[in-house]
Amino acid sequence: MKNKSLLSHTLLTLAEFTERRAKFLSLMPENSVAIFSAANEVTRSNDTEYAFCQNKNFYYLSGYSEPDAILLLVKPSFGEDKSQSGEQSILFNRDKDALQEIWHGRRIGQTAAVEEYGFDQCFSLSEIEQILPDYIANKAQILFCQGQNEKFDSQVYAWLATVKGQSRSGVKAPRQFVDCSALVEEMRLIKSPAELEIMRQVNVISGAAHTRAMKESAVGNFEYQLEAALLHEFADNGARHPAYGTIVAGGDNGNILHYTNNDDVLKNNELVLIDAGGELSGYAADITRTFPVNGKFSQAQKTLYQLVLDAQNLAIAAIKPQATFAELNILVNDFLTTGLYELGILSGDLALLLEEKACKKYFIHGLGHWLGLDVHDVGDYQVNDQRQQCRAFEQGMVMTIEPGIYIPLDDQSVEEKWRGIAVRIEDNIAVTENGYENLTINAPKSINDIESIMSSGKLPKQ
Ligand code: GLY
Ligand code: MN
Ligand code: MN
Repeated sequence: MKNKSLLSHTLLTLAEFTERRAKFLSLMPENSVAIFSAANEVTRSNDTEYAFCQNKNFYYLSGYSEPDAILLLVKPSFGEDKSQSGEQSILFNRDKDALQEIWHGRRIGQTAAVEEYGFDQCFSLSEIEQILPDYIANKAQILFCQGQNEKFDSQVYAWLATVKGQSRSGVKAPRQFVDCSALVEEMRLIKSPAELEIMRQVNVISGAAHTRAMKESAVGNFEYQLEAALLHEFADNGARHPAYGTIVAGGDNGNILHYTNNDDVLKNNELVLIDAGGELSGYAADITRTFPVNGKFSQAQKTLYQLVLDAQNLAIAAIKPQATFAELNILVNDFLTTGLYELGILSGDLALLLEEKACKKYFIHGLGHWLGLDVHDVGDYQVNDQRQQCRAFEQGMVMTIEPGIYIPLDDQSVEEKWRGIAVRIEDNIAVTENGYENLTINAPKSINDIESIMSSGKLPKQ
């Protein structure tokens, strides 16, 4: 293995990935194998493909960036001689191929994959049908992430059938299939110091992109022109791809939660809601800012914006180990319900409104979610019968906090001045030993900061 600190396509060290594999192997039951599949390329149209995105569980354990590969982790029976038949990490990948590489790009092949990624062995994918069943033979369990990829699920059953076909020569086939998604997902939920550093970086990059969008906002431009500025800023700073479909939603479009058409004109006196984050070494930022297209909030916009901002700050301040999303939801729902009641947007008996969580009429999505290699990252929320997320926060978890108020243009139940206003504010927060770290440090969000950046290009003097 080369003494190489960095793989070429990721800011993580090789040791980070070999340690993850060792940890996963330590969690596997004895005499088992775990099989993980890389993603395949996805056709966009005819013979062109979407930008490739590696399967995140596969990437988490391997660091490997090419499509069409299988990772096999082998855990022996306790007591076997580790040097001969011990824990092993084995990769099956594409062969080097001069013609394919001229047309489609370089391939690492088998020899370099062992050196660069620290696998014990690497075989050609073309040999997998002959080789892989031998590793399954006589194992008690097969672990794999079931249900993610139908083709892969049926491949695993086919390998098992091959082993079963050898039973008359004394080979035993595994009798247990274990969906190991939760094992990897629980590992992914707690971020290492190196992962946190990447998530800090991608937040700084994405925050700079939001700031640039504020500076470049102009009445009469199309939403996709701001999208172009965001994507340019991501890529220019090393986050080549966005982590998810960029949302640039002017005015009432902000009331469509996953609006990605981005093809409308930005209008005077309207807000624009931007939900956009870059991806760096596979890790997502997920930031939302809402600001006036023309740089100056109207009074009604200011009022709703400040309500959402105060709710967000309240939730963030409560984040620490042992806190839960359920507790934060109570804080935010009570705060927003009271605020909307005081503004006359909700009416009736306040005690009843609070009990009914009446703000949910206008705060129509969850308060936040785990964040990491996926934008809606994996990891159990431990939802109870009342649909409350009761998982106690732990140091190393990263989540978004993203309250919002959405009042559609056609909502006749509120005064006209509120209609068509959509506000969401979203930051990315890491749980620390005693509290939290807000990773979203350079995307302006106070009314004063936003108006100052948009009028002068600078933050106000402290
Ligand atoms: N960008 C998707 C979300 O905020 O959940
Ligand atoms: Mn989010
Ligand atoms: Mn978002």
